[in-house]
Amino acid sequence: MAKIAICGYGVVGSGVAEVMAENADSIARNAAEQVSVKYILDRRDFPDDPYEDLIVHDFSQIENDPEVSIVVEVMGGVGAAYEFTKRALMAGKSVVTSNKELVAAHGHELIAIAKKKNLNYLFEASVGGGIPIIRPITQCLTANKLDEVYGILNGTTNYILTEMRQNDASFEDALRQDQENGFAEADPTADIDGIDAARKICILSDLCFGKHMNPEDIKAEGIRGVTSADVEYAKRLGCKIKLLGRGLRTGHETATAYVSPHLVSNSSLLSNVDGVMNGIVVHGNALGDTMFYGAGAGKRPTASAVVADVIDAVKHTHARKYLDWDDAPDGYFTDSAYVPSRWYVRANTSLQQIGWAFGKVNFVTYTGAAEDEYAFATEVYDEISLRKLTGGMNLRSLFRILD
Ligand code: HSE
Repeated sequence: MAKIAICGYGVVGSGVAEVMAENADSIARNAAEQVSVKYILDRRDFPDDPYEDLIVHDFSQIENDPEVSIVVEVMGGVGAAYEFTKRALMAGKSVVTSNKELVAAHGHELIAIAKKKNLNYLFEASVGGGIPIIRPITQCLTANKLDEVYGILNGTTNYILTEMRQNDASFEDALRQDQENGFAEADPTADIDGIDAARKICILSDLCFGKHMNPEDIKAEGIRGVTSADVEYAKRLGCKIKLLGRGLRTGHETATAYVSPHLVSNSSLLSNVDGVMNGIVVHGNALGDTMFYGAGAGKRPTASAVVADVIDAVKHTHARKYLDWDDAPDGYFTDSAYVPSRWYVRANTSLQQIGWAFGKVNFVTYTGAAEDEYAFATEVYDEISLRKLTGGMNLRSLFRILD
């Protein structure tokens, strides 16, 4: 019988306990032994909760119990979660996590500790909620040289953008609804400002390109600047606005990653990824594009990925799963401003100035559009050139277009 401890009894932790109990028989069959929860660590008490008796407040109890072979860290953050993960690994316990902030910032170091101790540090739930994406990248697609990964990586912002487009919802109402559904981070700023998506594209880029990216190097622009006018202009351009994280190789030994709102063409598969769903496209030189789609946030979808990792850790008690990347050489991370694309521009300017800068462009408008602005799509430019060309304009929005 394998015994686990869950650290953090919030949305994901309670989902893990629930799925472990509900699917105990199939989990035991898949793991080839019974798996049970021995402790749940949280600061709070949970009177009348079915797992009330398992609640502990001191991590040492878990650390010092040799019966516990796997620690599930679903606390979030890089404070106590980082400390407990290191202590669990040093105490000879494998660790499973959904903590993207910790994996993006310290995953390389924690994997190294796990490696030294012949243990596993598994994090399928850290990207894309319940979508299988870490295993496909590190197992099924390993015959390929992966050169690009991009997608909708944050359920909260996708939910808000979908509500704004489909139901004319206000930003605030859509966010409130999303928080009630348990999708947003404790501090939703991380969702709205693209920081959560930046951590996830960091992890995906680390795995796809095999070298460490510092999450703090990744430029993240969130959805605060997306207005209902942008949503309307995008519709007229045959697009939807989506917050994308994108990582790509930019040369033999260089790569970049960034997060920003994009106009995604209605003909792209990603344009139909709505609500809290996530969609991730991986491009490999042998396979071409492959898209992974599913529930990117929420209690049970995230628990689904966490529990699958627990089962994998049970099955690999004395064998390591290969899941790692190398340190990056100097100059590996390049500025995403050099990545070319078409652009959507909304600006308070004159037709003459647009003509001087861009020649002929594809203008769009809609009934009710502001009279003091123009919106148009450009040809392909990198961001540096684009900023120079729009330098004299009073810019209101500037988003990349994904054709
Ligand atoms: N707040 C995250 C999201 C949770 O909305 O996608 C899943 O990582």
